[in-house]
This record gives sequence, C-alpha cells and structure tokens, in this order.
Amino acid sequence: MIEPIRIGIVGLGTVGSGVVRLLVESANHISRHAGRPIVVQKVVVQDVNKVRSVQVPGGSLSTDIRHISLDPSISVVALLMGGLEPARSMMVELLKNGKDVVTANKALLAEHGPELFALARRQERSIAFEAAVAGGIPIVAAIGECLAANRIESIRGILNGTSNFILTRMEEDGSSYSDALKLAQKNGFAEADPSMDVDGTDATQKLAILAHLAFGVWVPWAEIPRTGIDGLDIDLLKYAEELGYRIRLVAVVNRAADKLAMRVGPALVKIGTPLAETRGAYNAVSIVGDAVGRMFFHGLGAGQMPTASAVVADIIDTVVGRTAITFRTTGLLSVDTPTTHMNETDTIERHFLRINVSDKPGVLARITGILGNHGISIASVIQHDVSGSPDTGVPLVIMTHQCASIAVRQAISIIDQTDVVRGRSVCLSVLDE
Ligand code: NAP
Ligand code: HSE
Repeated sequence: MIEPIRIGIVGLGTVGSGVVRLLVESANHISRHAGRPIVVQKVVVQDVNKVRSVQVPGGSLSTDIRHISLDPSISVVALLMGGLEPARSMMVELLKNGKDVVTANKALLAEHGPELFALARRQERSIAFEAAVAGGIPIVAAIGECLAANRIESIRGILNGTSNFILTRMEEDGSSYSDALKLAQKNGFAEADPSMDVDGTDATQKLAILAHLAFGVWVPWAEIPRTGIDGLDIDLLKYAEELGYRIRLVAVVNRAADKLAMRVGPALVKIGTPLAETRGAYNAVSIVGDAVGRMFFHGLGAGQMPTASAVVADIIDTVVGRTAITFRTTGLLSVDTPTTHMNETDTIERHFLRINVSDKPGVLARITGILGNHGISIASVIQHDVSGSPDTGVPLVIMTHQCASIAVRQAISIIDQTDVVRGRSVCLSVLDE
C-alpha cells in the first residue's frame, strides 16, 4: 500500500469546495495520475461553524493557519482564499514551514508575486498557479511550458468570466447590468469584491501574469491602462450588434520592438470570430508565437469545477515533482527579471464612438468636422429617428476607419467640450481580426 500524500487546504468556498469534491469523487483517477492517493488532512477557514457543501474529516477544520503549517505530515497546501491579507502572510507562513503551495489567488501573485516566489526559492519550495489565470484553461502550462520554443508576438484574451457573463446576459436576454452581476455572484464566478471583476482589475492582474510567462518581464499590473465594463449600457451592445460586432472585455499585450504595449478594456469584436463567440463565464486566449503561429484556447474561466480542475492538476504536478522542476529551472516571477516600461503606443485601429448630441441642425457637420480635423475618417454613422431635444440629446454612433487612437482621444475631448454634446462620449476599440 503506497502512503497517501496529505494536503492542507486554506479556504473552503467556491473553489476549495470544488477541490475537495474532485479529490473525493475522482480519487482513483487522481491517484493513478499522482502515483499515490491524495487525501485532505486539514482545512483552514474563516468560520468553522458555517454549513458546508462538502464534508471534511471531523476535527480537521480550524481558523488557525498553524493547524496546517505546523503539521509535519502535510507537504502540499492549496491556498484558496482571495485578497491580499491575510493570504500573503499565510503563504509566507506555509513556505517558511516547508510546504509547497498551489494557489488560485491572482491578486496576491500580481501584487506580491516576486517576493513570494523569491521566498519559495530560498526555502526550496514551489508555488503553482494554473488556476489563477483563465480558470480551467491550462494557459499557464501552455505558455510556460508547451510554447516555450516560441517568441510570443501577442496575446489577446477574455480573462474575466464575470464580465463576460454579464455582457452575454445583457446581449442575449436583455438582462440589466445589475441583475446579470447578481447572477454571476450567485454562480460563484465573481470575486468577493466584484468591483475587481467589472472595473478590469482582475483581467489586468491576469494579463500581468501571462505577460510575465510569455515575455519574461514583470510589469506592475497597476501600470497597465485599464477600463472595465462598468461604464457600458445595453444600448451600446445593441449598436455594436447593428454594426456586426459584440462587446467583450479584452486584455491585449503586443510586442513592439523591445517594448510591450498592454491594455485591458471593452472592445468591439466581429460576430463570428472566436472572441465574439466566447459566451457566459467562458474565457478565451489567442496567442501568436513565431514558430507555432496563432493558437486559440477556449474554456470555462470561472466557476467551481473548472477552477478546481486546474487546482487539482497543480496538486498532482506538485506531488509528482513536476512543479519543483519547472520552478527550479525557470525564472518564474523572479525579482531578477527586468521590468519593462510600457509604451502607451499609438495604436492604429478602428474606433466606435457614441456621442450624445443635441438634436438641432448643423450638429453632425460640427462633430464630423472635428474628427476630420484630426485626420479621422468616418466609415459609418447611425442616428436613429428618436425624439430628442436640444437639451436631452440623441445618440450619434460613428464607426471610424483605421486611425490613431491618440487622435481619437484628442478629438473626443474637444467634442465633449462643445455646447452640442450632452454627457460624456464613449470610445471603444474595434478589433477586426
Ligand atoms: P470564496 O467562495 O469567497 O471562498 C473563500 C474562502 O476563504 C472561504 O472558505 C473563507 O472561509 C476562506 N477565508 C476567507 N478569509 C479567511 C481567513 N482570514 N482565514 C481563513 N480562511 C479564510 O472564494 P472563491 O471564489 O473560492 O475564490 C478563492 C480564490 O480563488 C480567490 O483568490 C479567487 O480570485 C480565486 N479564483 C476563483 C475562481 C472562481 O470562479 N470562484 C476562479 C479562479 C480563481 P469561510 O468559508 O469560513 O468564510
Ligand atoms: N472572478 C474571476 C472571474 C474568477 O470572473 O473571471 C476567475 O478568476
């Protein structure tokens, strides 16, 4: 009889419960892959009296991290709680006590990754984090290992399941933004603080991690320009559809010479393309490598079992020693990795504009005149015959030809200061391929 590996789990919420479920329900299958049984020895939570959807061994629950960190029979710990503190201190405590750690906490890695990885190296321990980016999609392994022979040219991804779920509910059922967000929370997709999902923070933190894996640089996530979906409304989705597009929260990193151009924001993607057809809590990542060409990954990016799938795979990799090899031999999140300064490159692309204009003669000419003065050529204009007034305004929707985004930003700031515009205009990128 082979001795089982005894693991600890910190956090028994959406993800932690899924991990326990998978380890119990697929025990034989997992044991075959790990070469030995994996059993949950101890669990640390915030409230030991909470009713749980999964059963853990009697007496195994505690609120004290030392319950796990000081147990010499436990060698691997899944840290499955969110936020920065006390998650950071707990990871430090676990590493210092000789535990290998598996985590899904991307906020923690994006904020404190280099220091935690340096500590893990000093302690000769490892940190595995497949579940931290794109849920069940094995994108960390794909970029870090399977595509290692490639110079990556670009990554474009839908990396936040909650935002994608909200946008899809709004476009498919006409759900309101707030109802769709509530449903995402009910389904366990959203962060404890869902503003991190909808304001683009979560996707930006994931992009920083992917960019590190792909380009070997550590870009502080807060320096990456980001916009969320929280400023969108259902009318914008309808106008986009009328033009043959959907709106998705897209994270982009492009290599431009020796620099990276990175951003996260809502963008129009053409109906029928893979990003536009990524629905609900699904995520998608499109990568271009110099040898492999374009690759596309698609799968559930949030939710209990898809995320548990990635966590358990990491636990197995750690148990069999694969994580330690990768960790030792690559400079993952090493503080020695040089940082790069992003150039806020002047992207050349098409833009979608919605400008709420006063309904009176000469307004259209004035707006198009300002755009023309900035070298922006118009591809199409929509102005429905809705009753407006000089005071309330009516939406004017403009699709531009390819033009410099800096010119569009300058033109919009001038347009928004004119006396014919009501409220702030919306300007979104259009990703045609
Ligand atoms: P969750 O449902 O809110 O569960 C969090 C768990 O952490 C709960 O069991 C909670 O204990 C425990 N916890 C909170 N504070 C604690 C403390 N001070 N000490 C000990 N335990 C504490 O969160 P989740 O959705 O499972 O997410 C966990 C992590 O996975 C987050 O970093 C998240 O970003 C990441 N993630 C989530 C998903 C997803 O789809 N949900 C996908 C990928 C990654 P109680 O149960 O006692 O309250
Ligand atoms: N809140 C995250 C999302 C969970 O919606 O994508 C997966 O990381």
